[in-house]
Amino acid sequence: MSTQAVHAGWDARGEHGPMVPPVYATCAYAHPSHDSLKALFARETKGFAYSRSGNPTTRVLEERITALEGGVDAIAVASGQAAMTIALCALLEPGTHVVASSRLYGGTTELLDDTLADLRVDWTAVDPADLDAWRAALRPETRVLLVESIANPGAELADIDAISEIAHRHGAVVVADSTLASPALYRPGEHGADVVVHSATKYLAGHGGTFAGLLVDTGCFDPRRCPERWPRLTEPNSRFHVTFADEYERGGSGLIAYARAKYVTDFGATLPAQSAREVLVGIETLDLRLERISASALSIVGALQDSQGIERVNHPSSPGRPDRHLLARDFPQGAAGVFSVDLAGGEVAAAAFCDALELFSLAVNIGDVRSLVCHPASTTHVHLREEQRAACGVGPGTVRLSIGLEDVEDLLADLGRGLAAARGAAAGEALSSRSAALV
Ligand SMILES: Cc1ncc(COP(=O)(O)O)c(C=O)c1O
Repeated sequence: MSTQAVHAGWDARGEHGPMVPPVYATCAYAHPSHDSLKALFARETKGFAYSRSGNPTTRVLEERITALEGGVDAIAVASGQAAMTIALCALLEPGTHVVASSRLYGGTTELLDDTLADLRVDWTAVDPADLDAWRAALRPETRVLLVESIANPGAELADIDAISEIAHRHGAVVVADSTLASPALYRPGEHGADVVVHSATKYLAGHGGTFAGLLVDTGCFDPRRCPERWPRLTEPNSRFHVTFADEYERGGSGLIAYARAKYVTDFGATLPAQSAREVLVGIETLDLRLERISASALSIVGALQDSQGIERVNHPSSPGRPDRHLLARDFPQGAAGVFSVDLAGGEVAAAAFCDALELFSLAVNIGDVRSLVCHPASTTHVHLREEQRAACGVGPGTVRLSIGLEDVEDLLADLGRGLAAARGAAAGEALSSRSAALV
């Protein structure tokens, strides 16, 4: 992993020997002849014509993430949200169905509940830890089981081996959003997931300054095993004049070829070459950052466990968590740095906590080198229905923490400040509601 993070996709022995992949800041590519460009458009050769659908810098990133996830091929796009949208559009048609974990990033739930519903794709939410619920939700038209390997914001770990077995018996595929784990901690393809999606905006880039999304074919999916379920991949395509599944015979990915030809091109969610370079540079230190962040998070979770004013620390190492065994089995290097805390005193306490913190920044990102805090119920999960928020463990007193690279003692001191403010606000609120009751 460490070696691939630094080398995969790039050989510095090319012209001039640039050690770091150069940024190809160009929209189009000159070709030596009419026949050369014609052959590229006819898909007879590989290369670059127009950067909306491919760029040499971005290609290095695609090859690097393919290597890190142990996959077949990948696409890099403008954001994690674009990667998820493209993955689902490529796998789903009107009339099909998704079974998804109820514990998802709010934006993914909204995508399923609104935009994909507009396209007549139905979905059922299930508790990711309840394997019978996954089985019971399957329908003949189910094509995708969707899960986060570590869920945002409560850090629930998914048993992707078991979920993949359920999916594959049914002829469906598993799409795993592995943003919070990153390949430094967990590779969903090794557990049977067919497609991996990343918001590279988070740990992969690592510095909170770049948007990017990645989608990887892990090599587990082959639509030719069940061609009637995947006609858009297995039948000749009248727009592109190819059968995308043929790509598998050449060692590539029919799914990635289809997604790039159709959705990356049509949606135009292009990743700028400069952003691809920034993610590549971030990936070089991914495993070091995740090692430190996971260890810091574990210390902080331990220290918060018995703190006054906290009802629950939502982390797989917390006592009583049903996914504790998965932490030991599948995440020996840790579970990264994003988890949530339920504060006694609801939103009043959460607001006081967030406002009192000095080192943690109140910001709706995660996976930064800087520690961040946010109140999901009023921000990242605000557009969800009340019952959807409850199902993903987001209550009025829930705050999400994303631990960065700062000194743990400094972070604990800051959290102590936040908790004191939260306790004060909760007590003040209790007092004023008692006086209101007396009046
Ligand atoms: C787990 C997860 N997936 C996907 C996304 C969307 O990524 P982006 O913000 O890069 O579009 C996020 C954003 O917070 C996320 O947390």
